Amino acid sequence: MSIPALPSIASLLSSRRPHHSLPAGLYTRQDVFEADLKVFFQSHWILAGLECEIPEPGDTQVLDIGTSSVILLRDDDMQVRAFHNVCRHRGARILNAGQGVVSKLVCPYHQWTYETSGQLIHAPHMGVDFDKSCRSLKPVALRSVGGLLYVCLSDNPPKDIAFLQDVMEERLAPYGLRNAKVAHQVDVIEKSNWKLTLENNRECYHCVGSHPELCVTFIDLDFGFDLESMSEEDRERAAQHMAEHSARERRWEAEGFKSSTVERVTDCETNFRTQRLAIAGGGESQTPDGTAACAKLLGSMTRKDLGDTHLWGHNCWNHFMGDHAMSAMVIPLSADTTLVRTKWLVHKDAVEGKDYDLDKLTSVWIATTDQDADLVARSHAGVQDPSYEPGPYSKFTEKQLDNFASWYVKRMQAHGY
Ligand code: FES
Ligand SMILES: [Fe+2]
Repeated sequence: MSIPALPSIASLLSSRRPHHSLPAGLYTRQDVFEADLKVFFQSHWILAGLECEIPEPGDTQVLDIGTSSVILLRDDDMQVRAFHNVCRHRGARILNAGQGVVSKLVCPYHQWTYETSGQLIHAPHMGVDFDKSCRSLKPVALRSVGGLLYVCLSDNPPKDIAFLQDVMEERLAPYGLRNAKVAHQVDVIEKSNWKLTLENNRECYHCVGSHPELCVTFIDLDFGFDLESMSEEDRERAAQHMAEHSARERRWEAEGFKSSTVERVTDCETNFRTQRLAIAGGGESQTPDGTAACAKLLGSMTRKDLGDTHLWGHNCWNHFMGDHAMSAMVIPLSADTTLVRTKWLVHKDAVEGKDYDLDKLTSVWIATTDQDADLVARSHAGVQDPSYEPGPYSKFTEKQLDNFASWYVKRMQAHGY
């Protein structure tokens, strides 16, 4: 008996029912995983690091992304540069993943040596007529968006990154992220496909049931609700919240702090959404009681009552508050494992134990990320089950997942799948 052939990726994409989660194979198959890496992590802009992680000349940060690896580096002229981490001799990786400091980039294999500008300056035993000038390290397209480092590994990077820059440079400027420091970093390897990790982050439908710590400062109503199915009392609460939200947004905007929602989530190459939302509880920061964790505020911030500027992309979520910022980045490792790397940023001069308490700074998102890791592992286990069939997204609370799934299908198709 012959085994029936798997459907093509193209037919999986075109079989997606509108407003439903994706067909199982798009979450689970190895060939889809490889296509995802090519399309979403090698041909689109992704968040790869932070300027403040490489503050001094010679500082490096290396990130492995699937079969690619990128070196982020601060050059002697203080410019940030990005290179493919591939030696121009026989291709060896020059640096290992993680942080480092270099004066020159020396390949460990045969000691070909490059300037921090990428120029090859030393290639022993290659002959006197060997032309080093055409063997510089290959540059990677790079943009700093208010201190967030976006890279695109393709030679033809999407041009609409300019819109993200236009919107976010101004919004991020007061937070002075280029003059911040990473106070803490946590890596969690989730047992899920990267799209399930992203989908989970795009909704707060699950927040009340799973995130007691986050719900002290998050307001679930900000993430959608079905007014008709709510009790009279909850309807009143929702109406009051939305009226307060609009008034607050107008006030912040009038005070010069951009707050309104801007999103490019379906008909675009560079997918992002931003908005400024109020913080519940103590009203200042995503901490166990909602009060600021760091006494020294970020950048030029003088107020702690400016809520939380959210920024979501297809491989990140970020929260910028008066006292600190949280930046999480998603890198797929395999069809069923995904790295979520979370970083907490404070002013570079803030001192642990004096200006901030690390536990207060980090505990909400450490707990939330662990809870999410459990949820997405359940989700992945379920979509692998032969009985899984795509289910309907709530048009009230899961609209952003529907947008993400639609964008995903369109981008795959635009890349020939
Ligand atoms: S592979 Fe790098 S020097 Fe040979
Ligand atoms: Fe969550």
